Amino acid sequence: MAFKVAERGAIAPFIVMDVMREATRREALGESVLHLEVGQPSGQAPAGVRAAAARALDRLPLGYTVANGLDSLRERIARHYAHAYSVAVRPEQIVVTTGSSAGFLLAFLAAFAPGDRVAVAAPGYPAYRNILKAVGITCVDVPVGPDSRWQLTARVLEGLDQPLDGVIVASPANPTGSMLSAHEVAELAMWCELHDIRLISDEIYHGLTYGRAAATAAGMKAAPHTVVVNSFSKYYAMTGWRLGWLVVPDDLSRAVECLQQNLFISPPTLSQIAAEAAFDCLDELEARVAVYRANRDLLLNELPSAGFDKLAAADGAFYLYADLSDRTDDSALFCARMLAETGIATTPGTDFDPVRGRRALRFSYAGSTADMAEAARRLKAWRGV
Ligand SMILES: Cc1ncc(COP(=O)(O)O)c(C=O)c1O
Repeated sequence: MAFKVAERGAIAPFIVMDVMREATRREALGESVLHLEVGQPSGQAPAGVRAAAARALDRLPLGYTVANGLDSLRERIARHYAHAYSVAVRPEQIVVTTGSSAGFLLAFLAAFAPGDRVAVAAPGYPAYRNILKAVGITCVDVPVGPDSRWQLTARVLEGLDQPLDGVIVASPANPTGSMLSAHEVAELAMWCELHDIRLISDEIYHGLTYGRAAATAAGMKAAPHTVVVNSFSKYYAMTGWRLGWLVVPDDLSRAVECLQQNLFISPPTLSQIAAEAAFDCLDELEARVAVYRANRDLLLNELPSAGFDKLAAADGAFYLYADLSDRTDDSALFCARMLAETGIATTPGTDFDPVRGRRALRFSYAGSTADMAEAARRLKAWRGV
């Protein structure tokens, strides 16, 4: 019998990581590359986080922690819900994870059986679809657009004629930056509860909003089966520290704990100790949000004259999703040409929507304002304006 790659392991690439590899290769050859592909805050983690890590590195043995994470961090995260949203979440509901990425794996394995059907928005974050496939769950891509503000609302789901076991939403969303209103979050959570559909609410871009604040699905008494996913990667600027958390409903808590014990043992100890300090670095973190806001304003102003005039909602996160219908139906080729000819790396829409994404691309504005201004200048020159 020949060796083979198992079908469930043969998942699609996370295209942005492939683009990043190519952009970095060009940079190493001395080309001037602007990174508008990857969604990660630039610069260092907050000073308080780094100081806490340095102290721990010097003084503590840094062995494993208990599987669900340090009690003090779980308590601090629970307090964050009281403070930021006026919502009561018990520390025992918090499970600290190795980035939200590990949180998804734990949540999917605990909540869904092979063959279950889980709806995701298209365009949407590619790893939902790819992780679901790897664990044998059927991903139901639901096309969304401006009508529902690029979101899976209760009304969109009501209109589907296929049965579902789960739904994943992100507000603010990647790649569109669109948000659900507080009313829509509550309505969606209750609709899912009523239909025995497990809601997974990805709240990783909370804090990165430019109008109204994002509403959490955590702590809703009328929807006690919802799983909430969050992370220190985006607002807290700690991507490489690989730390996130889940708010786990009671019915899943022992399963998630056992999965974590066996799959990861525990989340990274140094990162856990340091992350507690992140909640006391709000001035520094808000200063970053001000930079993202300036970047967003700059691009929203400049991109239309560079030929990118159809942009999705952009309520939050640090992304702009541009419709390219009148320029290409091969976004991968378009982005590759843009990188080669202007040095600007962006992500083809096919990462987020395998079908309609052929006519879209995503700009990430997580970098510096100087980089955004230079990108706008190069794009306009590329367009000949
Ligand atoms: C919507 C969304 N969820 C989850 C993640 C995963 O982040 P992490 O594993 O760093 O927490 C990302 C990363 O870009 C994302 O965009």
